Amino acid sequence: MNDPNGLFYDEYEEQYHLYYQYNPNDTVWGQPLYWGHATSEDLLEWHHHDPAIGPDHDDEGIFSGSIVVDFNNTSGLFDDSIRPEQRVVAIYTNNIPGLQTQDIAISTDGGYTFDKYEANPVLNVNSSQFRDPKVIWHEESQKWVMTLAKSQEYKIQIYTSPDLKNWELGSNFTGGYLGYQYECPGLFKAKVENPKGNETDEKWIMVLAINPGSPLGGSINEYFIGDFDGETFTPMDHASRFMDTGKDFYAFQAFNNVRNSTIGLAWASNWQYANKVPDDDGYRSTMSSVREYTLRYVSTNPETEQLILCQKPFWNDDSLNVVDEYSVEDVALNKSCSIKTSFENSTGLLDFDFEFSLNNTADADTFELRIFSSKGDEAIKLGFDVTNNQYYLNRHTSNFFQRTNQFFQERWSTYVEPLGITDSGKNTYQVYGVVDKSILELYFNNGAYTSTNTFFLEKGVPGGVELVTDSSISIITVDYLKVRELSL
Ligand code: FRU
Repeated sequence: MNDPNGLFYDEYEEQYHLYYQYNPNDTVWGQPLYWGHATSEDLLEWHHHDPAIGPDHDDEGIFSGSIVVDFNNTSGLFDDSIRPEQRVVAIYTNNIPGLQTQDIAISTDGGYTFDKYEANPVLNVNSSQFRDPKVIWHEESQKWVMTLAKSQEYKIQIYTSPDLKNWELGSNFTGGYLGYQYECPGLFKAKVENPKGNETDEKWIMVLAINPGSPLGGSINEYFIGDFDGETFTPMDHASRFMDTGKDFYAFQAFNNVRNSTIGLAWASNWQYANKVPDDDGYRSTMSSVREYTLRYVSTNPETEQLILCQKPFWNDDSLNVVDEYSVEDVALNKSCSIKTSFENSTGLLDFDFEFSLNNTADADTFELRIFSSKGDEAIKLGFDVTNNQYYLNRHTSNFFQRTNQFFQERWSTYVEPLGITDSGKNTYQVYGVVDKSILELYFNNGAYTSTNTFFLEKGVPGGVELVTDSSISIITVDYLKVRELSL
């Protein structure tokens, strides 16, 4: 699979729907392209269903798009027998040779099967690079708003409509890092956790995916913070910001129809190698966790507090089954004192919460949090270099794909400001991690920075966590480390 599509919450059935780009005939991307479909009550356990929408011909594809619930039947496509919460309309790109148009389809069974609108397309500008409509209801102007990519002109186009069938161009937006082309834009509101002065406690976010051309290589998601008046998005500054500092976070989409919070997820892969990653377990690609998005002023250096789009996993901890648990507090780490927990017959699903403070020693050294395999002696590593005050990641394993793929780079770094300073002047850092078989998600400083990366162990599944250093003096104090083995 690739991009998530049509994310929405059905308030009547109390379940979340997730569709995704899916080629039923092969394990690599290609036409005919369908919307695969899964549902979940708790955003942890997903149930698979038949593909929901497919193309008319085998050389065509139902490309990325979104779903809205047309409560008030603005489209006139529903009758009273369909309850308002289930007036489901999909808006997607119909990709036919040489042309991309925006089409709609309706579902009267709560999102399982769809009928294409007979007067499709609803938007056609005779372009072959015009795609990925994300539609939201804009309460203030009482209109539908669509963002989509005029991909190779570097334009996010904003269209509006009263009825989902007739669309009018409102404005164009260009911003940020350009890369090769724009894909999968989207607009949503996010709450500001700590607004300053009489600033509003909500702002608009525009997200955008570029591929290829990410500074790390391949695919990446950017975002802009600003205001939106129903037709035009005005960013608050000219900065380019990335949603995630890892290699595998692309085509992010926010859920429609979720009240009181902004949640969404991304495809955890990168077009540089998405078609080649191991598929031995019977699948190729995963989605990131579902995350909640808020804005927070965070100090990004000693002189500035920046508004940052923060992320945290969005699930109810009660839905998780804690198989085993391990924790330590207040330990000075040095080479004769490593910290290790190993879970027998590991589920491969672990999380950890870790806070440490630097002991301000003159010793220039590093330490590593290693997530090791249940079989064999390999581990992926989250390290911290005390001299540079920087995290690094090393996802090297002896897996053949990893060793030989030119684009699957194995090491890079993430810069994170200290979370705080203790009374005795020590810098503290905090990171929450969740690792599930072949994906590691890191949330630094309560989600102010994230890094999402896939990895492929040669054997086994993640089986435990170890904290090690080569330093003979204690360069850090482990304020706490809590590791859990989880299952659904
Ligand atoms: C992004 C993307 C979209 C397109 C879809 C096709 O990953 O290229 O622009 O709609 O994938 O699968």
